Amino acid sequence: MRAPKDIRIEPYKIKMVEAIANTDPLSQTSLTQRADTLVKSNYNLFNVPAQDVVIDLLTDSGTGAMSHDQWAALMHGDESYAQATSFQRFEKSIQEVIGDDFLIIPTHQGRAAENILFYVLNHLADESREPGTPLRRHVLINSFFDTTAANVMLHGRLTADDIQQSGINFSTITDPDARHAHEANLKMETLIGPNQLVVDQTNPDEYEHGVFGGNINLEKFEDVLKDDNLRKQVMIVMMTVTNNTGGGLPVSMANLKAVRKLIDQYAANDKPLIEGTPPLMFLLDACRFAENAYFIQQHEPGYADHSVAEIAKEMYTLVDGATMSAKKDGMVHIGGFLALKHKGLREHCWEYMVEIEGFYTYGGLAGRDLEAVAVGMKEGVDDARVKQRVEQVRQLWRWLDDAGVPVKSPCGGHGVFLKGRAFWTADGKEMIDARDLPGHTLALELFRKYGIRGCEIGTIMFGDYNPETGRPDRVAPGEDYVRLAVPRRVYTDSHLEYVAAAIIELFKNREACPWRGMRFSFRPNALPHFLSHFEPIPA
Ligand code: F0G
Repeated sequence: MRAPKDIRIEPYKIKMVEAIANTDPLSQTSLTQRADTLVKSNYNLFNVPAQDVVIDLLTDSGTGAMSHDQWAALMHGDESYAQATSFQRFEKSIQEVIGDDFLIIPTHQGRAAENILFYVLNHLADESREPGTPLRRHVLINSFFDTTAANVMLHGRLTADDIQQSGINFSTITDPDARHAHEANLKMETLIGPNQLVVDQTNPDEYEHGVFGGNINLEKFEDVLKDDNLRKQVMIVMMTVTNNTGGGLPVSMANLKAVRKLIDQYAANDKPLIEGTPPLMFLLDACRFAENAYFIQQHEPGYADHSVAEIAKEMYTLVDGATMSAKKDGMVHIGGFLALKHKGLREHCWEYMVEIEGFYTYGGLAGRDLEAVAVGMKEGVDDARVKQRVEQVRQLWRWLDDAGVPVKSPCGGHGVFLKGRAFWTADGKEMIDARDLPGHTLALELFRKYGIRGCEIGTIMFGDYNPETGRPDRVAPGEDYVRLAVPRRVYTDSHLEYVAAAIIELFKNREACPWRGMRFSFRPNALPHFLSHFEPIPA
């Protein structure tokens, strides 16, 4: 038995439970039923009814458990249309966590904050444009989540002419071979356009083994800022903390500080988008900011004695704003916000948000939802809470890694990323061709055999599609990941031990899988991972 000091206890007790419908997931009946469900769901896990899932690791977004303080706070929801007291509590609590100098715009979730932000920034860029100068359209970032990329595109789409007139040689910035698979994929034109400049780590080894694998490559970042023509076309700089599509790896404080410094150094004399804002604004995509702060506390020199709350606040001192999905470290089922330091910019956002989200004191949320965020933001940065969460994810990763299951290393904050291609390798040979979606096949087999639902983050999400062959021509370079995202405060270690044991067993018996890949039978033009249909290739 382990010594007491080696045991990580959950910093909460459980007083409300939800039954898992199927407590006999390994029986032949369950297996047959799930095989049947997959046929009816067109082999897309987003179509699988939730009651058929035993352990659901599809996402950590909005799937966490709220505390009794949050549930109690719901009862205080003030449903006044305008200026509700719930909004005042919401705003004050967020300001206490991220800083008093931020003005807070509520939204129903993260992508709504992105929508408002990019709509307004693009309009301001057009209004402030001087004749004869190129469009100011680019977002310079460490890594895009797909909804962020989609919103940048939606409001700032560049035509072929625009690209030509920009005078930018995009190949000098985007160098897929030198980049980690996901960042490389994120630049594929099928998903996003050239107005997204992703600048990541140059050295794949460093990326693979470095704790702060979400860092931006400062050398490449400086190259962009140094170039007058290029810099003046950058609308804003963003950093995603932690880096979801790159394994949930964090960004160091040193990296955030260096980014701020380089922006101030190179853009000091540029024209701001709107009077009163810095010439080039720096924002966070902050969904998992508390997890990011925890990594800084654990790994960055000088931060061991600082609380997660203190570190988080310091991160926000470096930026001019943030988009936030409170469904992650805000600890709620629905909610988000846009935080800005500049009044004028906020007022522009208000105008657009009233059209699409609601009045500026509720932003698509009920008063009770605002209350849940007000409490959740504080719980999000609680040291014991974050530690338990990140260390629980790491425990899952360790079980798998120790057993030789191919997983992305090091482990990030919100989930474990299985390597689909390496998983289906036996005797040095790939059992499943990269164009036959090994990651997706793994996610499906994990569901069929064990009732565990994960999510492919690979070729379906970032690759392309050739309708003539029903296969992608371009696959995710490097790996084809399956993300097992762990919801907050929902599963105990024994649930995750089942997940680990299941994956280890599946890995040992992988040659018994009845499939040798999947083919698209239908693929929509946008966001294919949600809506595509597939057919298995029999073994
Ligand atoms: N930014 C990042 C880094 C995200 O991970 C997400 C959502 C969003 C923005 C958008 O927030 O969902 O509230 O609109 N990620 C979820 C996921 C969906 O599964 O990783 P949203």
